[in-house]
Amino acid sequence: MFGNSLPVTSNQDGVHPDLQRVLERHRAAHFRKPVSAHTLQAFERMQSIWSKAGQPPLVLDAGCGVGWSTLRLALRHPDHLVVGVDQSAERLQRGPAGADDNPANLLLLRADLVDFWRLLAAHGMALAHHYLLYPTPWPRKQHLGRRWHGHPVFPVMVALGGTLECRSNWIVYLQEFAIALQISSGAAVPVLAWDPPEGAALTPFEEKYRASGHGLWRCCADLSEVSRTGPHAPVLP
Ligand SMILES: C[S@@+](CC[C@H](N)C(=O)[O-])C[C@H]1O[C@@H](n2cnc3c(N)ncnc32)[C@H](O)[C@@H]1O
Repeated sequence: MFGNSLPVTSNQDGVHPDLQRVLERHRAAHFRKPVSAHTLQAFERMQSIWSKAGQPPLVLDAGCGVGWSTLRLALRHPDHLVVGVDQSAERLQRGPAGADDNPANLLLLRADLVDFWRLLAAHGMALAHHYLLYPTPWPRKQHLGRRWHGHPVFPVMVALGGTLECRSNWIVYLQEFAIALQISSGAAVPVLAWDPPEGAALTPFEEKYRASGHGLWRCCADLSEVSRTGPHAPVLP
């Protein structure tokens, strides 16, 4: 599996010309869509564990895949509840989800992020740290709306606050993501080259891309000051 991954190719040169327009449209509109039953169930499970643990600060590993990064983050943040969410039960089964020696602050859930983010926001739950590690790049120009910053849920992600870090092997994804964060937070968000030493990759995709010689990129924004009110404030789904 490692070392033979093809670099991202795209019919889009540079930042998408519609990015700003799409961001403005989504900031001005409420995104209403019914929440799926399985995501509501997963969210309620998380809420119950969080309450029993005394409501510690929350870390979300959004699109955690098999969940190895969530385990590493749980060890890094022992006084936080660290939640990994992925839509794929098959992926989650391949990682630490079934192990019985996991740290008590690790929780892996199968859920749809679009609904999970909105449930967090609707219940006023802020994040301390929010990771979006190697999201599917959707590199075709016509797929801007499938990238997280081009999706109507983006204002809700931002309203969850905390430090939000995104990593990708497609620099255009991160250039767009950084612009979207900059517009939302008002702060400059630099895109930085990322070169994890061998053995220090946080996720399987990071390791696969690193071993294949791809350039890796990351950006990080402090969203703790972003207003949770205003036109893009989350509403109950
Ligand atoms: C490219 S993989 C990266 C996985 C992992 N973060 C890594 O770096 O190894 C993207 C992950 O996002 C998950 N994903 C995409 N859309 C999702 C959604 N709406 N809800 C939950 N997970 C989603 C996919 O199932 C997949 O596991």
